[in-house]
Amino acid sequence: MLSAVERKIGQFIAELGDKEVSVLYTKLPAGKRLRAKLILKIAGSNLAAVKTAAVVEMIHAASLLHDDVIDDAYTRRSKPSLNALYGNKTAIMLGDILYSKGFLELNNISTEIAKIVSNAVVQLSLGELGDVSLSKTFNVDRERYLRMIYQKTASLIEASAGAAAVLAGKPKEAYLTYGRNLGMAFQMIDDILDITQDAQTLGKPALHDFAEGKTTLPYIYLYEALDSAEKAELQGLHAKVLKPEEALWIQTKMKEHQIIEQSYLEARALIEEAIALMSVQGEDALAGIAQEMIEREF
Ligand code: FPP
Ligand code: MG
Repeated sequence: MLSAVERKIGQFIAELGDKEVSVLYTKLPAGKRLRAKLILKIAGSNLAAVKTAAVVEMIHAASLLHDDVIDDAYTRRSKPSLNALYGNKTAIMLGDILYSKGFLELNNISTEIAKIVSNAVVQLSLGELGDVSLSKTFNVDRERYLRMIYQKTASLIEASAGAAAVLAGKPKEAYLTYGRNLGMAFQMIDDILDITQDAQTLGKPALHDFAEGKTTLPYIYLYEALDSAEKAELQGLHAKVLKPEEALWIQTKMKEHQIIEQSYLEARALIEEAIALMSVQGEDALAGIAQEMIEREF
């Protein structure tokens, strides 16, 4: 199923008629193709669904190319990122090429699909800006965090599921909610793993988010649970490279207040709602994808 999407992306890239772009594209790790998988599971492997999946994956790849430049990230999926290999300029331009070719192809699907997907890309961009802005301060506002992860991560997954439902003539709202919940839970779990996994498994240093200024859900809950002296101590560690004993203090406090469990439960509630919605629709495979999401260790 997914091979048809890979072929379609390959065709779109070949149509650009640029050897350099074709070579650069081969340097990108394909990833899990979660968005394409959802689209094909919901809408089947017809041409419109394959094209939509290809466009969404190209936009997603473009957003990660830009994100790695913004985050100064030199690895992606444990491999050197494109900006590490070829520099920021090339990474940004390859992102622009994938993104604009994706938009061009979106016009050949349908106006409704184009609207759903392009609205998500607006959200995606607002979310990335929100992430950068929130990282400059010690944000402990849960609502702002939730809004940012909705925009940055959930919006494109929500749009993938919603667009596929439109293509298949299925009830759009249920699928939009499924995609949104899946996306929110995915980002929450990602943020939890940054704290619970070791550096080798993550392919980046553990507690990296906090050092980058990101106060993700566990830090927001931890802040709420600490007394005022500890609150000040946590705030003092924000956006710094942590010494081992400082990282240990954060992890110990998280354990003491069961912060990871609390954060995990929030992701799990979203997944349970997503599973219930798909069970009503008889979509066992989609319910299974949601279940796997909450069980993933990386
Ligand atoms: C990864 O977040 C980043 C995103 C999911 C969205 C990035 C969006 C943009 C750069 C907007 C521009 C969009 C286009 C289409 C050019 P992360 O840094 O938390 O996750 P990571 O650990 O995977 O890097
Ligand atoms: Mg990043």
